[in-house]
Amino acid sequence: MRKKIVAGNWKMNLSLSDALELSSEVSHYLTKSKPACEVILAPSFTFLSALKSIKEKSCFLLSAQDCSAAASGAFTGEVSAMQIKSSGADYVIIGHSERRKYHHEGNELLLEKIHRALAENLNVIFCCGETIEDRNSGHHFETVQEQLTRVIFKIHESSISKLTIAYEPVWAIGTGVTASDNQAQEMHAFIRLLIQEKFPDHADTMSILYGGSCNEKNAAALFSCPDIDGGLIGGASLKADSFIEIIQAAG
Ligand code: PGA
Repeated sequence: MRKKIVAGNWKMNLSLSDALELSSEVSHYLTKSKPACEVILAPSFTFLSALKSIKEKSCFLLSAQDCSAAASGAFTGEVSAMQIKSSGADYVIIGHSERRKYHHEGNELLLEKIHRALAENLNVIFCCGETIEDRNSGHHFETVQEQLTRVIFKIHESSISKLTIAYEPVWAIGTGVTASDNQAQEMHAFIRLLIQEKFPDHADTMSILYGGSCNEKNAAALFSCPDIDGGLIGGASLKADSFIEIIQAAG
């Protein structure tokens, strides 16, 4: 059986007190309702250790939104996988399209980051997804296949169980335009097929999350698709009510 996962990617939002309040509200819901899905909160680096104490009394897990490809040293402004792990994170998101776009992160760097995260025993949420140009020109499958082939398929099979994939079409992120259930399911099934070909023992157990304007209104339909195992939620994870409704949609 595959794990259902709902992860809140807070991006560069919220003050420390907002982050504590939101995570406390989510924590209160989780301890009361004990949903079957795994819930992950991904705050800014600076809030990880503050949220760790709430996490310890609750049942959510913590993720960073990125990590450095370097282990340590003179890299001003960077945050290492070891520092993230020692601040209480269980996961790190790698390859988000905002990192690819604004920080020009390419496949080679992403692979190094993943190796660094795995060396610290962090789980990895690897993001992939096509631009609107890729989709309009009919190259969306090709784009996603290349992102997986150049990064995920270079990882040793012994680490594959530490990976979760998030399919996030770039045109759906923060735009209010969600992929239709069919578009999302079709791509998730394609990703699972590729995993099946490369790592046959892992295709049935790897969670593949959908991300891109997923909210409390469309989550239930998306999550009921056979190859969609939950969501990576941006905007709708910033309010306790909507995020909790999305958790409920994942069961
Ligand atoms: P969104 O962001 O839900 O606001 O579209 C998702 C993401 O970028 O992970």
